[in-house]
Amino acid sequence: MVGGGALVRKPASPVGPLALLHRPVPEPPSSLRRGPLREGAWRSPLRSERTATLLGMWVGVAFAVCFATGLLSHLIQNPPSWFGWPSRPVNLYRVTQGLHVISGFAAIPLLLAKLWTVYPKLFEWPPVRSLLHAIGRLSLLVLVGSAIFQLVTGVLNVARWYVVMPFFFTTAHYWTAWIAIGAILVHVGSKLAIIRIGLSEPAAAEPPAAAVAGGLTRRSFLTAVAATSGVVALTTAGQTVPALSGITVFGQRDPRLGLQGLPVNKSAASAGVLETAVDPTHRITLDGPRPQQLSLAVLRSLPQHTVRLPITCVEGWSATADWTGIRMADLLDMMGLPEDAEVTVESLQESGLYRASVLAPPHSRDPLTLLALRLNGADLHIDHGYPARLIAPNRPGVLQTKWVSRVRAL
Ligand code: HEM
Repeated sequence: MVGGGALVRKPASPVGPLALLHRPVPEPPSSLRRGPLREGAWRSPLRSERTATLLGMWVGVAFAVCFATGLLSHLIQNPPSWFGWPSRPVNLYRVTQGLHVISGFAAIPLLLAKLWTVYPKLFEWPPVRSLLHAIGRLSLLVLVGSAIFQLVTGVLNVARWYVVMPFFFTTAHYWTAWIAIGAILVHVGSKLAIIRIGLSEPAAAEPPAAAVAGGLTRRSFLTAVAATSGVVALTTAGQTVPALSGITVFGQRDPRLGLQGLPVNKSAASAGVLETAVDPTHRITLDGPRPQQLSLAVLRSLPQHTVRLPITCVEGWSATADWTGIRMADLLDMMGLPEDAEVTVESLQESGLYRASVLAPPHSRDPLTLLALRLNGADLHIDHGYPARLIAPNRPGVLQTKWVSRVRAL
């Protein structure tokens, strides 16, 4: 009994396997405590709980944006039955995927600064206090490894430097995203107490500038990191935001440059359609209740419509153009398909992940969805999908099938 009768109980000591996890392990001989392991080896006053907490929060926000927008892109390309993606606003995917790449690039200086702030912890003494402590330290490998993996593979992918990735980028990046987000959540959970201290520590508690090497204060360090991240974001955004095109440094593409004023990702040569696409006997097959085969001349004789739509690459760049062709809704009517029919649009390309794409409502019946024959006032260039390609609002570029050979009812 303590003062006034309240019963104070000591926390129960763990028993069984839990006790094993907590049992202290012997400390290594102190003669090993040298170099970076010695006491006071890391003295930069820029490192503090507050700096680590704030940087961690910024990295967390950037990764959360990347995860949400990346997951959305994955769902649009691999839609489960419960998922529906609208065809309007036409620029929505442009915004979400642009944001994905911009926040990914902006996360790089943030993560580097965060790692610099906390890496002396690698050399803490004793290196291991208990089995639980060892597991906690090992889990950091997963956290740091998956975070670096996401940023490195993302950059390699937008740079189209596939030879240095001996795995399929999309699958590896997708599953590692779950690992990274899971590891971040576990890490935040295990550090809540320190995070609270970091957030409650007043900014004024930092040492005076004179006491810090080079006169750099924690505040100016954090400002410099935030400014670097902001500059990286702005100089990446030009591939998505036309007004910023002139200051693009990290963007993979300048959306203003390319054949017919539009960049090309997959050329006719790399798709192996150089001859088949220009073969005068080529016909587009409509495979439905009323099957038919249409020559280019017949397609040109059908009612033509012009729409202004962006082509938005999964790699973040996007560019708007004028497309002219036949409404997909008109073709589906010619095929005798009901309003809610789904079709597969196939390419002359014989193999490859993106040789066909599924077109379902609302995109299939949207009046902006065309089997396009012309781009910016001229026949499609062969690298843009001559003689005919799909263009639909609010869809990733990889689903806008080029060199169309067949529209098939599902
Ligand atoms: C510099 C950083 C990053 C860049 C440049 C980047 C780039 C990309 C690109 C280009 C794609 C499209 C892949 C495709 O559909 O072919 C993608 C997809 C994705 N990203 Fe990132 N990414 C970055 C960071 C991250 C981070 C930090 C996360 C999560 C923690 C993340 C999660 C995802 C997910 C879930 C997908 C969908 C993958 C799929 O379609 O299966 N990314 N990313």
